[in-house]
Amino acid sequence: MKRRAGEGVRAERARLFEEMHRRGEPFDYSRRAAEILRHRFVRETVHRVHASPPRLLDVGCSMGQLTAQLAGLPRGLFAVDLSRTAIRVARDRLRDAAAPARFVVASATALPFREESFAVVVLSDGLHSWQLPPEERQVALAQAHRVVERGGYAVLTEYLQPRAFREFVGQVRASPFELVSIAYLYDRLWYQFESWFKAIRGWRWVRRLFGSIPVALTLRAVARLLGPRGSRHICVVARRT
Ligand SMILES: C[S@@+](CC[C@H](N)C(=O)[O-])C[C@H]1O[C@@H](n2cnc3c(N)ncnc32)[C@H](O)[C@@H]1O
Repeated sequence: MKRRAGEGVRAERARLFEEMHRRGEPFDYSRRAAEILRHRFVRETVHRVHASPPRLLDVGCSMGQLTAQLAGLPRGLFAVDLSRTAIRVARDRLRDAAAPARFVVASATALPFREESFAVVVLSDGLHSWQLPPEERQVALAQAHRVVERGGYAVLTEYLQPRAFREFVGQVRASPFELVSIAYLYDRLWYQFESWFKAIRGWRWVRRLFGSIPVALTLRAVARLLGPRGSRHICVVARRT
């Protein structure tokens, strides 16, 4: 009975994410400067831990916006998402990429890959954004750990209130991974700034402002002065020993 209830909740979550992608690009990832900078940050982080990973897995790839940034780093690029529509769009986006990418509809909690298949696994705006209960977050971390090779890395980002950063790091520490590093993206002012203009976000000059990389970089430089409190995104790198 309990198991069936769990399956019902999982099916409902999958339906929500599918609906979200059918309505168009969720979160305007391709146009919002903070998200573009975040994707670049993840790419740079992956490059730093492994300049040329033989195989990389992007978990929860949405429509492939981050996956496209990662293309070119690994020799084999794989991505999964719960949403069929997201996977279809992501596959189209990377159709002409220099190296072929493979996309699969799958859940982070049941990755369809063999043990030690990847040098790097990316879980970007994943664990919490996937709306998993705490025990399933640990399942997702255990799955990432299973498919990453010994000595390989997991790169995780999450959008949180700064007061929740400690708990997020605690979840990684409680997993089979070894914590390597913690970084902040200093994007809190940008999201604050965006919220001031929400009511008129359809106006052309506002859209331009949201897409402006120089504006986002300026806000980032100011937010950095606040330390971790100046961030809504945290980035954690962990390793399979
Ligand atoms: C917030 S978006 C993040 C997209 C991308 N990784 C990024 O950093 O920009 C979360 C994505 O994860 C997908 N997702 C939700 N639950 C998932 C699960 N259990 N397994 C795999 N993907 C999931 C959603 O469909 C959505 O595309």
